[in-house]
Amino acid sequence: MRKWTLSLFAVSVALLFAASSPRAAETIKIGVAGPLTGDQAAFGEMLKNGSLLAAEEWNAKGGVVLRGKKVKVELLWGDDRHDPREGVSIAHKFVNSGVVGVVGHFNSSVSIPASTVYSEAGVVQITPASTNPKLTEQGFMTVFRACGRDDQQGEVAAEFIKNKLKAKNVAILHDKTTYGQGLADETRRFLGRLGIKPVFYSGIVQGDKDFTPVLTAAKQKNPEVVFFGGIHPEAILLVKQMRERLGMNAAFISGDGVYVDEFFKIAGKAAEGSYITFTPDQAKIQAAQGVIAKHRERFGKEVGAYTIYSYVAASLILQSIQETNSTAGARLSAHLRSKAWNTALGKIQFNAKGDVLESPYVVWQVKGGRFVQLN
Ligand code: ALA
Repeated sequence: MRKWTLSLFAVSVALLFAASSPRAAETIKIGVAGPLTGDQAAFGEMLKNGSLLAAEEWNAKGGVVLRGKKVKVELLWGDDRHDPREGVSIAHKFVNSGVVGVVGHFNSSVSIPASTVYSEAGVVQITPASTNPKLTEQGFMTVFRACGRDDQQGEVAAEFIKNKLKAKNVAILHDKTTYGQGLADETRRFLGRLGIKPVFYSGIVQGDKDFTPVLTAAKQKNPEVVFFGGIHPEAILLVKQMRERLGMNAAFISGDGVYVDEFFKIAGKAAEGSYITFTPDQAKIQAAQGVIAKHRERFGKEVGAYTIYSYVAASLILQSIQETNSTAGARLSAHLRSKAWNTALGKIQFNAKGDVLESPYVVWQVKGGRFVQLN
């Protein structure tokens, strides 16, 4: 009987405590969202693994110090399958589950509509990978982008086409998504400034398998370069069908959405010589060595294009929570913008829009079945 009374007492004290401190979170919940399954899952895995490494690192120390207590980090996964509607639904689920920060999403077409949900709920969102300028042009205080933007990436592609490839006939294709078309349009805009007007411009449909009709139409314009704004599943088919079915030998150029090993592993010989714009070699960043080694140990493979970006996004949210001693979106957003951060990608500083101050792009080429950075 005495035992019974004691345990009842203990339960009521616990309930009382819970009721009197509703903000005492048991865990710090961070949402991680991207295409975790489906044809872009290779990129989703990078977001997942990068965030996981960051969370595990903090949890190994006992958690994030918040209001004098160490609080463990809990990751909530959101598989948006690169579908904007799915992304918005995940954003609502995250908000309802009490996430205090989001690493994601991957695709600009998903990050942008989801950002409205996070902004209204006051939840910090750091995308490791969405490069469409519009994301940070909306004026949302809660939005941050760890990577660069397509108005930078498109300029580098245009200059490379003009000055290195010395091409005059350029065909432009895109996948009609916010990212794909956005990057194609930025490249076209900068080509225009350099005096090059594309001889062909057309959209394709994501998920289609046969691109020979559009490629046949492009081929009739004798392009020396085919620029594609889109993601690797379609890039693989395009470059294979160009080379294998239509005998087109125009240079193939694309952007960060194609910087993934699957591109040359699946396209094989057809991908050889292709050019991709992306950031300079992350393996050469001194500060990245720790996470690169940990990733190898934990997952038995090398980091991908956006693994370290995801690690940095998660780490910055957690670090900000500890430094502000708060999980309030407004506090975190202000703090994230308030200083330069030492990260695994080197020094990062956000501007008022939430973009990083520096994010250079370079050109890579598929050579001997791997990406090689050109000078
Ligand atoms: N950079 C790509 C996008 O913005 C992944 O969608």
